[in-house]
Amino acid sequence: MSAIGIIGGTGIEQLQGLSITREHAVNTTFGAPSRPIQEGRLGGKSLFFLHRHGSPKAVPPHLINYRANISALHSLGVRRLVAINAVGGISPDMQPGRLVIPNQLVDYTWGREHSFDDGSSGSLQHIDFTEPYDRPLRLALVQAAETAGIAHEPFGVHAVTQGPRLETAAEVRRLAGDGCDVVGMTGMPEAALARELGMAYACVCMVVNPAAGLGDLPLTQDMMRQILAREAGVVRTLLETLLSTLASAEAAE
Ligand code: HPA
Repeated sequence: MSAIGIIGGTGIEQLQGLSITREHAVNTTFGAPSRPIQEGRLGGKSLFFLHRHGSPKAVPPHLINYRANISALHSLGVRRLVAINAVGGISPDMQPGRLVIPNQLVDYTWGREHSFDDGSSGSLQHIDFTEPYDRPLRLALVQAAETAGIAHEPFGVHAVTQGPRLETAAEVRRLAGDGCDVVGMTGMPEAALARELGMAYACVCMVVNPAAGLGDLPLTQDMMRQILAREAGVVRTLLETLLSTLASAEAAE
């Protein structure tokens, strides 16, 4: 089975249930990843885990070294990557606590190092990004959620904004008009970089707040963290089920 990587976002500093066997302090052409990458076992299956924001000092979304993160995971042999992202909910179904497996994204980020291509190859590198998430891996996540009885949205459009501030109410209305269902700050350029390196990449969004202007309460980090803490067990069950689904599918091949 090709190595599986998990990138955890806000609230997923540690992967619940992961028994860590090694830590890899990888360095890459682009610098060091957010944190040494943990290798370990979850539900008897091995994986690599990276916390996107690092620790103990958190790296904000616009300053994450996405190229180092993806490149480091790739250098460890990771070819399938599941990203966990905390998001705000925009469409009416996307209430706090909802788990979404998006099939599309809209990139509103700017000024980030968004490609490995520095022009030195001398040829144009246009990756196909029609479907930004790897279809088989996305479907395996949907299947795992169904098998584990986890309520989820099997489709959704993920808006990725620059941050680190949250959006204005007018910006959220614009995102809704653009067809976006959820909004986060870290989904890009991660997804495109993984595609550039030929890695299968899919994303699990956890709705932690109604997006700006859609809820009754002011948005606070505490509110978001509380939902994430409550849902960490769901993410663990989803990942355990995914790993065993993928292992059985490979054994059957
Ligand atoms: N907007 C952007 N990013 C987020 C949000 C949000 O409302 N919630 C969690 N990450």
